[in-house]
Amino acid sequence: MPSTPVDVFEVGSAHEQVVFANDPASGLRAIIAIHSTALGPALGGTRFYPYASTDDAVRDVLNLSRGMTYKAALAGLDLGGGKAVIIGDPATLKSEALLRAYGRFVQSLNGRYFTACDVGTYSEDMDHVARECDFVTGRTVAHGGAGDSSVLTAYGVFQGMRAASETLWGEPTLAGRTVGVAGVGKVGHHLVRHLIEDGAAVVVTDPHQPSVERVTTEFPQVRVVADTDALVATELDVYAPCALGSALTDEVVETLSARIVCGAANNQLAHPGIEKVLEEQGILYAPDYCVNSGGLIQVADELEGFSFERAQQRASGIFDTTRAVFALARREQVPPAVAADRLAEQRMRDVDRLRGIHLR
Ligand SMILES: NC(=O)c1ccc[n+]([C@@H]2O[C@H](COP(=O)([O-])OP(=O)(O)OC[C@H]3O[C@@H](n4cnc5c(N)ncnc54)[C@H](O)[C@@H]3O)[C@@H](O)[C@H]2O)c1
Repeated sequence: MPSTPVDVFEVGSAHEQVVFANDPASGLRAIIAIHSTALGPALGGTRFYPYASTDDAVRDVLNLSRGMTYKAALAGLDLGGGKAVIIGDPATLKSEALLRAYGRFVQSLNGRYFTACDVGTYSEDMDHVARECDFVTGRTVAHGGAGDSSVLTAYGVFQGMRAASETLWGEPTLAGRTVGVAGVGKVGHHLVRHLIEDGAAVVVTDPHQPSVERVTTEFPQVRVVADTDALVATELDVYAPCALGSALTDEVVETLSARIVCGAANNQLAHPGIEKVLEEQGILYAPDYCVNSGGLIQVADELEGFSFERAQQRASGIFDTTRAVFALARREQVPPAVAADRLAEQRMRDVDRLRGIHLR
């Protein structure tokens, strides 16, 4: 990480609002970033992470909140983009008092920002936040929440993968294909189930042995390889990064035999320009925030009183959205990642313009 100080107006020049929240008694140090409310109130999770510096936390929250704007816009939701980070180690710092203090700061934004779970925060934490705040999603089912969002995230990734298969091979199915899944945690293991049910052969890797065992116990036909390098070097039709960000480096793209990349991980492109390298290698890349929006759709549904059926119906739309991204990419001769941005920006412009129609 660079050590030069961050100028929040420079780095976050497109952001509407950045709020620093400080409660020394509980140890709360949080930053809430609202990137855009063009389509509605900002929604995004709270990442609880031991950032090395405040600058690192600022950079992360600005990036993540911008990503949420595009994800919500492309998913067709009436929501803007926001995100929050709490600085510190959740294992030692997290407490009821800290979470409730955080809830009061979120409440002070009066509905411009809705929070949810992210790395380091869980539905039970959101239940605490909700004791002080009306603008919380991702609560436990017992508290009227949508519960684990990975269910519809995996379902959406599978829909995106079907759309990619149709675009490349003419049929919206993975039957007879070999799919490599890197990371079989919450999302990855649900994805494996969809793939097996569809008739695909699946190869997985995950350094966390219990996660691998859960998958192989349920689906003994799944093949396991030692690590991501081995998976990338395996003969695959589809590669699904479902672990960490920056999975698509120059080396990985050069090595891959897969013709499709479609997975759940956020920020898969390791650097700007790698989307062009993917295209040059003849790899169809399903943009991460397009196919992994099922979880956002799931928690956003809580705002209307959660219905799993309604949320799943909406997440089914990821198939058509991914198709539309590929079609635009072909028409405008740009990589799908660029096409996805254009579609999201177009929707923000179109809907924002409606505010010019005077009502009263
Ligand atoms: N959970 C959601 O609803 C959701 C929504 C959108 C995006 N995502 C993204 O999807 C990804 C997976 O999310 P999750 O909720 O399943 O997280 P998770 O922590 O449950 O699972 C991630 C898994 O990846 C494994 N892993 C770590 N390093 C690895 C490596 N080098 N190679 C292979 N596996 C590795 C971990 O052991 C873990 O089992 C994350 O990038 C997350 O940001 C998740």
